[in-house]
Amino acid sequence: MTGGLTMRAETADSRTQPAVQVPIHVKGVSKSFMQNGVPLAVLDDVDFYASDGEFVCIIGPSGCGKSTLLNIIAGLDRPSKGVISLHGRTLDSRLGEVGYMQQRDLLMPWRSVLDNAVIGLELKGVSKNEAHARARALLQDFGLAGFENEYPHALSGGMRQRAAFLRTVLADQEVFLLDEPFGALDALTRSQIQEWLLGMWRRVQKTIVMVTHDVDEAIFLSDRVYVMSSRPGRMKLVQEVDLPRPRLLEMVTQPRFVELKALLLASVRGEVTDG
Ligand SMILES: Nc1ncnc2c1ncn2[C@@H]1O[C@H](COP(=O)(O)OP(=O)(O)O)[C@@H](O)[C@H]1O
Ligand SMILES: [Mg+2]
Repeated sequence: MTGGLTMRAETADSRTQPAVQVPIHVKGVSKSFMQNGVPLAVLDDVDFYASDGEFVCIIGPSGCGKSTLLNIIAGLDRPSKGVISLHGRTLDSRLGEVGYMQQRDLLMPWRSVLDNAVIGLELKGVSKNEAHARARALLQDFGLAGFENEYPHALSGGMRQRAAFLRTVLADQEVFLLDEPFGALDALTRSQIQEWLLGMWRRVQKTIVMVTHDVDEAIFLSDRVYVMSSRPGRMKLVQEVDLPRPRLLEMVTQPRFVELKALLLASVRGEVTDG
């Protein structure tokens, strides 16, 4: 296939530009919203990419445009400027091309956990029986066994998020966008969730782009971390995380981890938050 894998020009900045065509490539994306008749600049000339099978995190102060960036990648919103390509293809509509777990879990209150989980499969035309069978096979792994017939209001925040994540995993897109997926925790601690997420990532072999506000979490999970400035969000720092895998909890005390954390914190610090 010509035009498939093309090498980039040697002049490209290797920190912000991938070497080959990748699942997600955002180039020079800016976005403004009209608020009270005045344009509000939310994203400013953002470059971003995620390669095949990578785990990439985005951190930045509240209100800097992280969710807006994911909305644009997912095709729910359009950039004011710039290009988004998926595997080198720039599509008019990207809706349904990537799996997206939004910041709010967006479960349908009138559907059971099981019926919420299979929405993506139903949209793909998978039969209800088959879809339910696939969902049931994962209930245990997602800590939802025994809750499949419950409605969202009966679940804890953490369970609702896991149900939304199960729906994303079942839809089986190549790329998952996760917007602060585990903010509402229940019985599981943050580190348990992180280890679980890494295990799931290894199993499903997807490309994951995750927004978090937690620097430790970003380092622990990622191959590369992007730090955004406060609004209008720019990519302030792009940092490769050169820690070996599998990642182990004891790594957080190792010198390289501590060094990366200092680098990222120095970048995050000084950015003002706008709730
Ligand atoms: N649809 C919209 N219309 C107008 N303003 C918006 C819209 N969506 C987001 N914004 C504004 O854009 C800014 C960035 O929002 P968001 O992307 O949600 O930030 P983050 O996810 O980093 O906290 C905020 O000031 C928000 O009010
Ligand atoms: Mg957000």
